Amino acid sequence: MDSEGNFIEISTILFTTFVGVCVLLFFYIVKLLNAENKNVDDKGKNEKRSEQIEKKKESAISKSKKKTSIEGRWTGRSDKQAYTHPWLLTSLKGHTSEVLDMDFSSNGKYLASCAEDRTVLLWDVKDLQQKDHKSLRINIEFDYATFVKWSPDSKAFLIHKFNGNCIEVYKIEKKGDGTIGSAVKAITFTKVCDDDIVGLGISSNGKFIISCSNKTDLVIWDLRGQQLARIDTYLMNTYCAKISLCGKYIVASGFAPDVKVWEVTFSKNGEFQDVKRVYDLTGHTSGVYDVAFDVDSSHIATISKDGTWKLFDTKIDYKRGEDPHLKLTGKYKQGGVAKIALSPNAEVVAVASSGSIALYSASNGQLQHSVEKIFNGEITSIMFDSTGKYLLVSGDKHIRIFHNVTGYCCEIERAKEKLKQNQTATTKDRLQKVIRDNESFLNKVGIKV
Ligand SMILES: *[C@@H]1O[C@H](CO)[C@@H](O)[C@H](O)[C@H]1NC(C)=O
Ligand SMILES: *[C@@H]1O[C@H](CO)[C@@H](O)[C@H](O)[C@H]1NC(C)=O
Ligand SMILES: *[C@@H]1O[C@H](CO)[C@@H](O)[C@H](O)[C@H]1NC(C)=O
Ligand SMILES: *[C@@H]1O[C@H](CO)[C@@H](O)[C@H](O)[C@H]1NC(C)=O
Repeated sequence: MDSEGNFIEISTILFTTFVGVCVLLFFYIVKLLNAENKNVDDKGKNEKRSEQIEKKKESAISKSKKKTSIEGRWTGRSDKQAYTHPWLLTSLKGHTSEVLDMDFSSNGKYLASCAEDRTVLLWDVKDLQQKDHKSLRINIEFDYATFVKWSPDSKAFLIHKFNGNCIEVYKIEKKGDGTIGSAVKAITFTKVCDDDIVGLGISSNGKFIISCSNKTDLVIWDLRGQQLARIDTYLMNTYCAKISLCGKYIVASGFAPDVKVWEVTFSKNGEFQDVKRVYDLTGHTSGVYDVAFDVDSSHIATISKDGTWKLFDTKIDYKRGEDPHLKLTGKYKQGGVAKIALSPNAEVVAVASSGSIALYSASNGQLQHSVEKIFNGEITSIMFDSTGKYLLVSGDKHIRIFHNVTGYCCEIERAKEKLKQNQTATTKDRLQKVIRDNESFLNKVGIKV
């Protein structure tokens, strides 16, 4: 009896102590969290308020405008959900966590993607129309890649490793039949900073590589990992750093509203000469999340926290002091970090924010189409393929490929404009065929014109 009583007493004391400690811990954690939230709150308060006002305006605007928006559908049970949308060509499935970046090889045959699941997948996309797309898995040991980029000759790709915080180059090994057999690590660059990387790029002429920290440290490398130059972005925090598709310019955007553009020059025999500021893209009133180029760098699109995107004409003679011309400003529905893509011919501006994409005509800035709720979470990257036929978006586990519906509408508009002028009978026939073909295609994917 006695020992049993003691036992009960001891266990009661122990239990009470345990509960007491738990309660104390709980309050401590709550206090900590509150303090943290408050810090964030104070910083974001003003921004949030103006964002909310902006949102209200925005929703009023979008209600009054006519646009095509077809919502995607999730079908099936929660464990085997499938996403369907009439414009969806296909989904690339293979990653088991959020896809962070993707890149097409310049020969258009392969797509590389990386995810937190410690893999890089190389997809065979020679024919995007095919139903199944094979992929080759490359494991990134004890780490994962936050960026992946193909070398211009499609014989290697580079990644930026998150934990190691350095660039690695992987060489592709082909099989007898010409398909990719494997990829092996060839070079590891030295780690240069402790901050997260917000941009990795390799120039299309194969002359240099860039990496840029989330602070202001932009490094220009040669292909072997030697540093050519190091520049300060003067952006307080940098959000995005990219190389133009022509391989001549570097652009960086961030907390400061002005987007900076540099030119990288090489001597005739290929030696690195210089990197110098050439112009700024001005006009945004808040930080700039993302920038995008068209194929010949004659246009740059930007998207900002201020609730707008802008399209600049950058086909200018900056050496003679000419500034970039602002062509268009458009509004977009805000929600988290936004991304922007420009079609190769600069006809369509695509904006990704809060899991949805919106497509705008670059001739008048009007919202033409949108695809809502493509992913449950954020869209992590968005790009057109080199033909401009498809729009690719990545997010939770998958990459989704959509038809560039807005592009087809632009073709129809253009043909109709041309038909208004006096044309020869053969041209008329050709234009009418363009309209017929494009319209029948659009009808097929559920769009009435
Ligand atoms: C920049 O990277 C560092 C290192 O990972 C991180 O602690 C910090 O929060 C990042 N800053 C911003 C503004 O994202
Ligand atoms: C979209 O695709 C059509 C049809 O292939 C193409 O003609 C057009 O140029 C594309 N649009 C864009 C913006 O690239
Ligand atoms: C239209 O083109 C035809 C043949 O090229 C020509 O004979 C006619 O005068 C033109 N009409 C106008 C209004 O330009
Ligand atoms: C749409 O029009 C373009 C010509 O401007 C043509 O090249 C293309 O084949 C058409 N698309 C379809 C699906 O017919």
